[in-house]
Amino acid sequence: MFFKKKNYIVGLDIGTSYVKMVQLKDVKEGGYELGFYDMMPLLPGTITEGAITDKGHITSVIRELMKKTGCKSADAIIGVSGHSSVIIKRITIPTMTEEELTNSIRYEAEQYIPFDINDVNLDFQILGPKQDEEGQMDVVLVAAKKTVINDYVEVAEDAGLDVILADVDSFALSNMYEFNYDISEKRIAALINIGATNSIINILQDGLPVFTRDSAIGSGHHTDMLVEELSISKEDAERLKMGRAIDGVDPEQAETVIANASEDIFGEISRSFDYFRSSVGFEEINGIILAGGAALIKGFSEALGERLGIEVEVADPFKRFKIPDALNKEFLKDMGPMAAVAVGLALRREDDK
Ligand SMILES: Nc1ncnc2c1ncn2[C@@H]1O[C@H](COP(=O)(O)OP(=O)(O)OP(=O)(O)O)[C@@H](O)[C@H]1O
Ligand SMILES: [Mg+2]
Repeated sequence: MFFKKKNYIVGLDIGTSYVKMVQLKDVKEGGYELGFYDMMPLLPGTITEGAITDKGHITSVIRELMKKTGCKSADAIIGVSGHSSVIIKRITIPTMTEEELTNSIRYEAEQYIPFDINDVNLDFQILGPKQDEEGQMDVVLVAAKKTVINDYVEVAEDAGLDVILADVDSFALSNMYEFNYDISEKRIAALINIGATNSIINILQDGLPVFTRDSAIGSGHHTDMLVEELSISKEDAERLKMGRAIDGVDPEQAETVIANASEDIFGEISRSFDYFRSSVGFEEINGIILAGGAALIKGFSEALGERLGIEVEVADPFKRFKIPDALNKEFLKDMGPMAAVAVGLALRREDDK
């Protein structure tokens, strides 16, 4: 008798402002079925500059999410994002296979990482041969401080999950894209995830990552500007961002403040694109796939497209999943963009890199 282990994987994205949780189930015929997706907000200040300051609160939020979704203890993959304790660096090294690099990554990393190499977990992604330099290749190197990762693992395990892997948000974003989109459709595509405090930009050429960058700007900037310019509370600012009315606030004025804040974010993206064009030498970005909470703000994606002169598509991370009837399709459609990283995490399997 064989008892085949059911393959349920939970992707857990602990963001600065929301915890997102998705469960995928392997389907016999191939592909995945969505078990559930849900999200819950964190109290402000729970995570500061990427480090967890209130573990107990996050654990209780994860527990609450598990209760809401009916998730039993399960294998989970958690995300860590680019901030002061995680270094994501593009480096150039002699061409070698993935296996060779796995063996020599510590040595290669030592010269690029300002922390003691024993204090970090290392990971990498090979981008491909270096342009105009024979025998060299570009690699994205990731070094994350063990103490910080351990905190993320701890909050998830205290809630009852088994963490089998920690992955980097920007890699997860690429995973989500590869699974759901026809990579041949756009030769050079920019995947952008704009969260509350952090933006990830991944540029893929023919489906392979050629550029990645984290910026410390996010939709928290909308919140801050609303608080400052309209003298309102953070909570009210959050409500305005979701299109709700606030007593004593002129909606048109709020829209103007939001548009101005968006403009700052677009400027940051535009600078990253300029940097990409000058450093990698490709001209055209054929399309943008936009994810993260900022994508939910009314008019944001359209304004981004206009500002950069590039077509913007709002990400649908559930595009190619089987969705059981019991799940709320409207919620999945509306909140989908925020699920991009969590979905990418749940898609990660041991055998791919
Ligand atoms: N309808 C909405 N629902 C929830 N959040 C929204 C909505 N519209 C805009 N937002 C904003 O999106 C942000 C949350 O997005 P997301 O969950 O992607 O960020 P995060 O992962 O918590 O942050 P980070 O990745 O920077 O750590 C918040 O700033 C929130 O105000
Ligand atoms: Mg995030």
